Amino acid sequence: MASAMQRATDLVAKASSVVVLSGAGMSAESGVPTFRDAHTGLWERFAPEQLATEEAFRANPPMVWTWYVWRAMLVRSVHPNAGHEAIGRWQHHVAQQGGSLHVATQNVDDLHERGGAEDVLHLHGSLHAYRCLECDTPARFDPATTGITADQEFRPEDVVPTVDCQHCESGVLRPGVVWFGEMLPEQAFGAAVSALQEADLVVVIGSSGLVQPAASLPLVGRDAGAAVIEINPAMTPISDTADVYLPSTAAVALPEMLGKVL
Ligand code: OAD
Repeated sequence: MASAMQRATDLVAKASSVVVLSGAGMSAESGVPTFRDAHTGLWERFAPEQLATEEAFRANPPMVWTWYVWRAMLVRSVHPNAGHEAIGRWQHHVAQQGGSLHVATQNVDDLHERGGAEDVLHLHGSLHAYRCLECDTPARFDPATTGITADQEFRPEDVVPTVDCQHCESGVLRPGVVWFGEMLPEQAFGAAVSALQEADLVVVIGSSGLVQPAASLPLVGRDAGAAVIEINPAMTPISDTADVYLPSTAAVALPEMLGKVL
């Protein structure tokens, strides 16, 4: 019987309508910690769910802001890994062949884009977008102006950026990410669902599959007839039903899986 990698490369060679769904594990080898498996000092002291809610923000804006600024600075200081770059090249290759490859990510970093992917669907928003807390008007903010750096130890600082908002008097800025209890951006989520309904191949990389509704997206593709490949060193709720499960990491498995087509 063909190896799992062989079966994956066969599916890749046949695919013309592809959706890549990525989670935190995608960026782990770039040096961005995941949420649930690599326990940094930060995660030992704080549950992400307790920092990533509007209630947490309103209760303690400096603490939440410091966390997001620290993460934005961390992402700025790292580079896309071989997995991000392979996906970027694959997207161009598929487009050249007349097909389509959509990337939908739960990640709030910009490493897919820096790895060459275009039109990335950010299901949980972006660390690099900001808006008014009250009226959602987009606003500019440079986290580097806070003086917080990627390598400093996390501690709440007096960082609460304000915005000169023309529509309301709030003046308080919030990160442009999706917090727990909030709706996903309609456009990005809708585009991901549409792409999955047309897909012949879905590749799920580096997500624990525990946070809804993103966790259900692989099933949308599978129910519409797509083959599913999962890349994750640990098994998840979809591993058993995936057509191919590759127990490997993004930066190792993706270049190998895509090596023949690129
Ligand atoms: P998790 O931290 O829940 O899961 C990370 C997954 O990546 C795990 O299944 C790991 O086994 C896997 N993994 C670790 N290293 C990897 C590597 N090098 N290559 C491939 N896989 C690897 O992250 P997500 O599933 O993305 O939401 O988390 C989902 C959401 O929970 C996040 O978007 C965030 C969080 O709370 C919000 O903040 C709304």
